[in-house]
Amino acid sequence: MNCKVLAVLSCIGIVVCSKSETYKNRHHLRDDLMYKYEKDVMPDSIDGNAVNVSIGVDLLRIIDMDNQILTLDTVITEIWQADNLKWRPGHVGGLEEIRLPSDLIWKPDLALADGAGKTVFIKSEDTNVIINSSGFVSWYPPVKTKTFCSYGELQNGDEIECHLTLYSWTHSTSTLDLKLQADEMDTSNLDVDFNPHWKLVSTHADVKHKVYSCCPESYAQASFTFRLRYVA
Ligand SMILES: *[C@@H]1O[C@H](CO)[C@@H](O)[C@H](O)[C@H]1NC(C)=O
Ligand SMILES: *[C@@H]1O[C@H](CO)[C@@H](O)[C@H](O)[C@H]1NC(C)=O
Repeated sequence: MNCKVLAVLSCIGIVVCSKSETYKNRHHLRDDLMYKYEKDVMPDSIDGNAVNVSIGVDLLRIIDMDNQILTLDTVITEIWQADNLKWRPGHVGGLEEIRLPSDLIWKPDLALADGAGKTVFIKSEDTNVIINSSGFVSWYPPVKTKTFCSYGELQNGDEIECHLTLYSWTHSTSTLDLKLQADEMDTSNLDVDFNPHWKLVSTHADVKHKVYSCCPESYAQASFTFRLRYVA
């Protein structure tokens, strides 16, 4: 047998071998990442500045409107980079990504204001996060949101505007900042036939940095605004 054939055979050997070891590699990686990991402690960002949390709202269904309270089915998408969740893929059989239960890791303390004075915390512990080797964590918790929309007597064809606002409950922008994944909501998965009375007209999103009278720091607020048309 010449060397070339041997090289090819050993190549195949390595491929087959590493395939059968993916469970082992994932296990090894999970153990490495979680070694002395403390989920109550916020990670450092990669560059020593604030952790940027990139957020989006994926609108799935307009469920109903009851007494100016609108219920929506959404998926909130959050992506951030954590300095303590990076690894070298070569050390774990080339693994570039791992999925882990979201309750194992630190997550931003994002709250959702419904416009009627009620606050809901985003904390779907049942969903996995996807972590890649650069330390990017992607989390897609499904959230049923309640939103206050102000309107008076409705006529067929009237348009109303509603807002969803997301912000960190405790972090100022010196430690956590919000970025938008897009300047509108993601409506590509919207079930447009679900609600016969409310049709989506348009959406837009922006981030504001607010300063409150209590404190000198600024706080990031991401607002998702959308217009709906009433169909009698
Ligand atoms: C967060 O975003 C700002 C720009 O707004 C950038 O200067 C900073 O480097 C980003 N931080 C990380 C860790 O990517
Ligand atoms: C990790 O995910 C981020 C954000 O989606 C992406 O920009 C980056 O290229 C990914 N890195 C690797 C090594 O896959």
